[in-house]
Amino acid sequence: MDRIVIEGGVPLRGEVVVSGSKNSTLPILAATLMTSEPCVIRHVPDLSDVRFMLDIIRYLGAEVTQPDKNTVRIHAARLQGVAPYDLVRKMRASVCLLGPLVVRLKSCRVSIPGGCVIGPRPIDLHIKGLNALGAGLTLEEGYVVAHAQGLKGTRVGMGGRYGSTVLGTANVMMAACLAEGMTVIENAAIEPELLDLADFLNAMGARVSGHGTATIVVEGTGKLHGADYRVIPDRMEAGTFLAAAAITRGDVLVKQIMPGHVLAVNRVLEEAGFDLTSGPDWVRLRTVGETRAQDVVTNPYPGFPTDMQAQMMALMCVTPGASVFTERVFPDRFMHVSELQRMGAQIEMEGATAVVKGVDHLSAAPVMASDLRASAALMLAGLVARGKTEIRRVYHIDRGYEHIDDKLRALGARIQRVRET
Ligand code: EPZ
Repeated sequence: MDRIVIEGGVPLRGEVVVSGSKNSTLPILAATLMTSEPCVIRHVPDLSDVRFMLDIIRYLGAEVTQPDKNTVRIHAARLQGVAPYDLVRKMRASVCLLGPLVVRLKSCRVSIPGGCVIGPRPIDLHIKGLNALGAGLTLEEGYVVAHAQGLKGTRVGMGGRYGSTVLGTANVMMAACLAEGMTVIENAAIEPELLDLADFLNAMGARVSGHGTATIVVEGTGKLHGADYRVIPDRMEAGTFLAAAAITRGDVLVKQIMPGHVLAVNRVLEEAGFDLTSGPDWVRLRTVGETRAQDVVTNPYPGFPTDMQAQMMALMCVTPGASVFTERVFPDRFMHVSELQRMGAQIEMEGATAVVKGVDHLSAAPVMASDLRASAALMLAGLVARGKTEIRRVYHIDRGYEHIDDKLRALGARIQRVRET
């Protein structure tokens, strides 16, 4: 397992190009199974999560080729319908295969994705939504088993106790495309990645409208055709680089992004005293003077994203003042706290709330990555800590950030990846 070693203290300066969105790519790759014609997906990030999804798609019987590392061609001419545990357990997002397999094969078995360190990952809303369409899903020995005859359009709500569900909305929207008649999805998630998925489905000949609002309407069509599609930029990678510029008190221009997707993160950074400017496809963060701690409450889009909570906490650990972090999407998502505390951060936990008191500096320490965004937070802390921080289990980072050590090094960071034989 690789380690990353970072010697802190260098203000990051320069420009960085953000990769394609992981959370757009994964459901879009799943959607390619809904047609027997070939699809080409472009601007795909070179990540282990994407490779896991492609392994499962190959296992299901589709032909997968990659003309280059960021382009994927998938031809699901014939499929079999069992997604086994030892593949699915590697990535819980594989649950978004449910919708496509139910409509394409009528019957399928998808292993129930495990929980993960950010907390329980129930799929009750996925099952409720797909069963409303007639999927006949049951839970059998750790698998979700589908017995669909033909799906029929209906009205279905996707709201849960923590708001809507992103991949649950994706599953129902995909299945509705090949159901008979009209489906109205209420309390739909409105994350940009779902708009991207809807645009891809429409490029395949689906009739999806209202995406980006809480009510999505899908007119079922009998068949979908292949499509050639480019996924949107990764808003979490963009936010992570803006936070890296902030924590090192640098000056970084983050390029090839959609600034409208990072407004909530930019707002917190501006309130904290950083200078942000933006153009059609870029945002620049400069450090111009004193900064002050800001509270963060995570919410579904367009609120502050839970996938940026850990990174913003790392920044607030070294920002003067006190800040309160309230996690309203994944209440257990605080694995990064204990590792940040080992680096000298002052954080007190109270249930789903963390109170952070900014300290003068963090100190390097050997730390352990635990989940994708917690690992990003530890890297940010390492960029500013005194001494050399060693981060183990770097595979967590490689799940969601394309060559992030190379990109940070190009901005001046003293960062090395140590390959473990
Ligand atoms: C997506 O996960 C993202 N993953 C997550 O990003 C992101 O944190 C999350 O949305 C929230 O924005 C991908 O898109 C691949 P949810 P998803 O269903 O769809 C509860 C990352 O770091 N819930 O929107 O699985 C759930 O427990 C990852 O890139 C139910 O109760 O998340 C949570 O509290 C981490 N029942 C809330 O809803 C269900 O059936 C939101 O979860 C489904 C979810």
